[in-house]
Amino acid sequence: MSTPSLAGRRIVVSAGPTFEDLDPVRFLGNRSSGKTGFAIAAAAAARGARTVLVAGPVSLATPAGVERVDVRSAAQMHAAVMAALPADVYIGAAAVADFTPARVSDHKIKKRPGEDGLVLQLVRTADILADVAASARRPSLVVGFAAETGDVEANARGKLERKRLDLVCANRVGLAGSGFESDDNALLVIGDGLRRELGPASKVELADALLDLVAERLG
Ligand code: PMT
Repeated sequence: MSTPSLAGRRIVVSAGPTFEDLDPVRFLGNRSSGKTGFAIAAAAAARGARTVLVAGPVSLATPAGVERVDVRSAAQMHAAVMAALPADVYIGAAAVADFTPARVSDHKIKKRPGEDGLVLQLVRTADILADVAASARRPSLVVGFAAETGDVEANARGKLERKRLDLVCANRVGLAGSGFESDDNALLVIGDGLRRELGPASKVELADALLDLVAERLG
C-alpha cells in the first residue's frame, strides 16, 4: 500500500519538554526528549506537508524540510503555536508544564541558616492544546497526547472530551522502554469511532502509523 500523501497540508507539531525558570540557574522541567514530536514532524515533511515544529529545549537535529521554532517555557510554546496557525493539523506531542513558578527570582535562590525547606508557589500555565481546539482558527484536526501512569484509556478519553480533540494518543509513561526518552513506545489512539493500538514500535514507525490515521481523517 502506498503512503498517503499530505502534500498541500500545513501541519504544526509541538515537541519536547518545557523549562520553567525558578532563578538564573534553576528550572522545573521534565523527561521528554523530543523524539516523538521530531519523528512526527520528519514524517509529515516527508509526506509533503508544510511542517512547523515548535520545539522545547532538546538537542535533536532539525528534520529535513521542517521549519523549526525553538522555545523554552510553556508561555513561549503557547505563543509560538498560536502564531503558527492557521493549519490543517495540530499535533501536541510536547510535554508542557502544567504549572510554572509564580515569580522568577532575579538572583540565585540561597539557602539560609536554619531553613530546612523551601516552599515554591506555582501557578497554572495556559493549555495550548485546549486553546488551539477552541481557537477561531481551529485546525481541521487537533491531535493531543495523554501521558498517563495509570487508568490510561479512561484518562485519555477524559482529555479527548475536555479539550475537544479529534484524536488523542495515549501512552503509559514511567515504564522502562516506553514513553519518555526511549526510542520505542506504544500508543492507543482514540477518536470518534476509532480505537487503535499502535506498537510497541520505534517512535519513527509510530509517527508514520499516526500520520496514516491523520491522512485518513483529513480525507
Ligand atoms: O519526547 P519523548 O521523550 O519522545 O516522549 C514522548 C512523550 C511521552 C512526551 C509523548 O508521547 C507525550 O505523551 N506527550 C504529551 C505529554 C503530556 O504533557 O501529556 P499530558 O497528559 O500532561 O498533556 C495532555 C496534552 O495536553 C498533551 O498533548 C500536551 O501537549 C497538552 N498540553 C498540556 C499542558 C499544557 N499547558 N498545554 C498543552 O498543550
